[in-house]
Amino acid sequence: MPNFDHRITSKLPNVKTTIFTTMGQLAHKYQALNLSQGFPNFDPDPELFQLVTQAMRDGYNQYAPMAGVMELREMISQKIGQLYDRHYHPENEITITVGATQAIFTIITTFIRPMDEVIVFKPVYDCYEPAIEVNGGISVPVQLNNLDFKVDWDEFRSKITPRTKMVIINNPHNPSGTILSEMDMLELQHSLKGTDIIVISDEVYEHIVFDGEVHESAAKYEDLSNRTFICGSFGKTFHITGWKIGYCTGPAELMREFRKTHQFNVFCVDHAVQKALATYLREPQHYLQLNQLYQDKRNLFVSGISNSRFKAKVCQGTYFQLLDYNAISNAGDEDFAEQLVREHGIACIPISSFNTNGLDKHLVRFCFAKTDETLEKAIGILCKL
Ligand SMILES: Cc1ncc(COP(=O)(O)O)c(C=O)c1O
Repeated sequence: MPNFDHRITSKLPNVKTTIFTTMGQLAHKYQALNLSQGFPNFDPDPELFQLVTQAMRDGYNQYAPMAGVMELREMISQKIGQLYDRHYHPENEITITVGATQAIFTIITTFIRPMDEVIVFKPVYDCYEPAIEVNGGISVPVQLNNLDFKVDWDEFRSKITPRTKMVIINNPHNPSGTILSEMDMLELQHSLKGTDIIVISDEVYEHIVFDGEVHESAAKYEDLSNRTFICGSFGKTFHITGWKIGYCTGPAELMREFRKTHQFNVFCVDHAVQKALATYLREPQHYLQLNQLYQDKRNLFVSGISNSRFKAKVCQGTYFQLLDYNAISNAGDEDFAEQLVREHGIACIPISSFNTNGLDKHLVRFCFAKTDETLEKAIGILCKL
């Protein structure tokens, strides 16, 4: 065996096994109810299976066009036009990707050079910072306050320097379940005026917003959208996270550069699935009904645990609910989460690892994209603690 010890200097020295893998493995080992990772435990619409099968039978089994199947890009363009009144040209402003994750990694790789600064909001979804680091960039955190998770825009502005190349927002926000308001979007737009800073707006939960609130897509803000890549995920919207398919939109000038990397990164995405989604997207109810589906699940979960010693600040969007366990234990959140799996048979995600310096406010995240039966079981366990 060659000895690589002194030849390989890790590009990601701080990256260890992610908390999702750790909790998933523990859940498996202890046969626990798994509300840790963000995916549904129910099946997608059978119509999707039929459409994919049909596309395979129709011969869409070889490489798709590099930027994606044109009908699918046209449908995405139409959908965004109808929802947010912004036109993205299917030819040169929309690219189909292997989930939002690949879109985000490819955008960062395309634009971030060594020592470029990227502003992120903490707690932060876990794929942004390693992508920044592996490209030699520097992640500049703005810590949200862990009570209401509102952005302090003065603090944000104080972090902008001549080296700031990019800002990454995530709305609705994982893990806090909060959403950005129109005011927030205007603050962001205004703060970046006169700069050449690029924005990534991770909007994978755009169709999971509750209580009649409106999703404030970056697409609605003209100045902002002119510097922004918006990333979407069909995995999240159609309960097909395992199919890994998403897209990004962005101004033509930026998209041209993006595609230079994309074509040598994955080149293209599953052909049959793209054909199927192009047809499936023709019916807007397929995505518009998502708010109600998940609002009902959120209500079931939150009203169930209202009889427990956990405290919930009811989430406004995403399919995650944070619970405060201060009334139950003084343990750190990772220890508490491990204890939940081992002793009580339920898995969640501790959120300190997404915060600056591991800030631990005794909050754990539960995914409620689960059948009502699973949620009832989870409530039963949590109410006994
Ligand atoms: C905020 C956020 N962005 C991106 C993703 C990844 O999306 P995809 O599965 O489409 O790559 C997730 C998945 O959990 C997420 O929560």
